[in-house]
Amino acid sequence: MHRSTDNATRCTRLRQRVGAEIDQAGSISFARFMELALYEPECGYYTSGAVEFGTGGDFVTAPELTPLFAGSLARQCAEVLEYLGGGEILEVGAGSGVLARELLGELARLDSLPLRYRILERSPALRARQAATLRQVEVPTEWLQAAPDQPFTGLILANELFDALPCHRVRMRSEHFCELRVGSEAGHFRWQAGAVFAPAAELLRWGPFTDGYTTELNLQMQPCLQALSAQLQRGLVLCLDYGYPRAEYLHPERSMGTLLCHHSHTATADPLIRVGEQDISASVDFTRLAEAGEQAGLELCGYASQAGFLLGCGIPEPVADRAALRQLLLPGGMGERFQVMALGRDMDRALCGFSRQDYRWRL
Ligand SMILES: C[S@@+](CC[C@H](N)C(=O)[O-])C[C@H]1O[C@@H](n2cnc3c(N)ncnc32)[C@H](O)[C@@H]1O
Repeated sequence: MHRSTDNATRCTRLRQRVGAEIDQAGSISFARFMELALYEPECGYYTSGAVEFGTGGDFVTAPELTPLFAGSLARQCAEVLEYLGGGEILEVGAGSGVLARELLGELARLDSLPLRYRILERSPALRARQAATLRQVEVPTEWLQAAPDQPFTGLILANELFDALPCHRVRMRSEHFCELRVGSEAGHFRWQAGAVFAPAAELLRWGPFTDGYTTELNLQMQPCLQALSAQLQRGLVLCLDYGYPRAEYLHPERSMGTLLCHHSHTATADPLIRVGEQDISASVDFTRLAEAGEQAGLELCGYASQAGFLLGCGIPEPVADRAALRQLLLPGGMGERFQVMALGRDMDRALCGFSRQDYRWRL
């Protein structure tokens, strides 16, 4: 069958599955809708492998933009591996595998290869894509389908993972945050006002919020981080993503929330259209991530903008692609919108990535 026919069939099947759940329950939470749209077995946007990364695809992540990102990040990894006396790297949500490939290339040049590179990836189609990308690397590689169940030492890397976790959506109504659920009407998915959403009560102290103020609440971040780091004996979790400290996340200017959907480099804030054909993400509340780290027994070791972090690590020379470097570092590109947080266990060492800038006080 032709690829676009395949794709249309897959999306129809996905919409039918979402529609059937809605018909049965009347409405579903936005977190459930996002789960189905991105990760429903075989037909979700990520699980089916419909996602295309890079300049010819739906959206560009930093490792897809330029190898300078991995080259710079490798310096932080090398420093940590040296401090630990060796260890392994676990990357979570590895996309096309390009970060792993470039990182291992640079770590080989720095003579700091990890003992092993493991990837935890939800999407079977992406696991296959990653294996193809990593065919020729020099260290043992392994794919996991669940968080590690054996003790290990080293680094956990998550680039644009937390923005892709299904989140809830809430809207202020008469001084309470009520859930925004997804229903359907005449064959189209529609937002539906739900009841007061108890887990969002904790946000009220960051107000006041005007009626209609809408935001996202990521309840999966904590259990996800907890599971990922449970077996980390010593080492560092590095989370790179777009987002804000909570006071900025819940700023009045973000009154319509932070949802962002990408399809063929077009960004919209409407996740209820193009189901299965577009990415859906929400910015990361980095204060929530730091709290999740604390609950998981991790220590907050650093927080900086992506630009501050990469410059602290050092940019590998020579820089062939200056336009990509600008995109990586400048505030109008990924430099300020993207942030880096380091959470450590038994890591009594200053980190080069935060040597120029450390914003922990902003959280
Ligand atoms: C936005 S993409 C980022 C890909 C890559 N890190 C990059 O920067 O190009 C999100 C990735 O996380 C994966 N993912 C989402 N939730 C996951 C989970 N709970 N465990 C493992 N992988 C997950 C997706 O399948 C996808 O590979």
